[in-house]
Amino acid sequence: MSFERFSAAPVAEDAVSEAFEIEIASSGEMLQVGESQTILEVLQAAGHEIETMCKEGLCGSCEVDLLEGEADHRDSVLNDAEKAEQNVLMVCCSRARTPRLKLDL
Ligand code: FES
Repeated sequence: MSFERFSAAPVAEDAVSEAFEIEIASSGEMLQVGESQTILEVLQAAGHEIETMCKEGLCGSCEVDLLEGEADHRDSVLNDAEKAEQNVLMVCCSRARTPRLKLDL
């Protein structure tokens, strides 16, 4: 068996990591994602079970449906068209371009 090494796509230099809110659609719960936190960390800390493998935006296992808001996609899973659709996001690495993201959880 052979292994290929992948590395995460470089984050654009103008990409900023600002705090934002996520809303859990099923409960209305609002969670704050700090500048240095990932959505995944915040969800897990709040007790949400999210499947993960790579935690680097490479595998797609942490995909969550996006109901409202615009994600700042930082993964290498979605193609440009899928990123533009704003229907899903990888919560291990993606952030928000809007103050709030509503997630289908
Ligand atoms: S855990 Fe692999 S893309 Fe998020």
